[in-house]
Amino acid sequence: MRDEAKGAALLAWYDRHARQMPWRVGPDARRAGCRPDPYHVWLSEVMLQQTTVAAVHDYFHRFVDRWPDVRALAAAEDGQVMGEWAGLGYYARARNLLKCARIVAADHDGRFPETRDGLLRLPGIGPYTAAAIAAIAFDEPATVVDGNVERVMTRLYAVQTPLPAAKPELAALAERLTPRNRPGCHAQAVMDLGATICTPKSPACGLCPLNTPCAARAAGIQADLPRKTPKRPKPVRRGIAYIARRSDGAWLLERRPETGLLGAMLGWPGTDWTTAAPAETPPVAADWYDPGVVVRHTFTHFHLQLALRVTEVGPDAVPERGQFVPAAQFRRDELPSVMRKALDLVQSALNPG
Ligand code: ADE
Repeated sequence: MRDEAKGAALLAWYDRHARQMPWRVGPDARRAGCRPDPYHVWLSEVMLQQTTVAAVHDYFHRFVDRWPDVRALAAAEDGQVMGEWAGLGYYARARNLLKCARIVAADHDGRFPETRDGLLRLPGIGPYTAAAIAAIAFDEPATVVDGNVERVMTRLYAVQTPLPAAKPELAALAERLTPRNRPGCHAQAVMDLGATICTPKSPACGLCPLNTPCAARAAGIQADLPRKTPKRPKPVRRGIAYIARRSDGAWLLERRPETGLLGAMLGWPGTDWTTAAPAETPPVAADWYDPGVVVRHTFTHFHLQLALRVTEVGPDAVPERGQFVPAAQFRRDELPSVMRKALDLVQSALNPG
């Protein structure tokens, strides 16, 4: 089957099975001339980098309720945006989101560039996101390649090269398949197919619109693809976080530096996280005790084991680092997941049952 016929089969499938998403304009409405709001497409695609559709849903709604357009977001305070992003992870995305919004508002009259190349110049927009916005928001024939698309291409063409070495080959195959007609629907169709039918385990080949031309299925190897070069095991890093509560209920928090892991997020003051055993560096003079629990959290490049120290201090305590945040202003939701876990563990260690 030629690539044009494969593309047509995929679009016909998408017309019947497109997933509904809050940022999406479905195939019928698109055909009637509706286009999605580029702000929604951009915001959702940045959120969807390394994050599932299910996890993004509520965050997307909260963002567009609070900041309905790119100018509103550009005018937000940094801390508000970081707080609203808390829990989604990969916090450089939120810092770049805000930088990007401010550039679009200030230099582009509040309108996103319509081409892949124009979009690529903006912070936080890499090749994947630029192609996704160009195709979905502006129907540019840009090829979108994410993990789902790679898996579909691997199987459709039975590519035996393991990932990540196969990436350029898979991108070239995806490009060949991209039609000039309806490229935005096509991009979303391949992603939907990968997410719902051509799944990593047990693909539902019986329901797949491309099961006839699929080379992996013909060879019976679809479940073995894509092959993957084994990853190196992640190292373990250790650190200590200090959780201090003042007698009036305020919590001692510190905003992390702009750059680096969890950059610009609020968190418990603590040591660096290293492979060596951490040395104690309490942020305020007090009687600290060890609740005997360890927070375990996995980041992209390492596993973290975070020991905890807890104290309660009087109203006059002066911290060397961080600031006391009054109980009425403290929002657990504004902490990144690892910092929430630390709080939850301490609270359950202190109040068992
Ligand atoms: N994953 C990331 N972006 C997506 C989109 N626009 N449609 C479906 N899945 C996606």
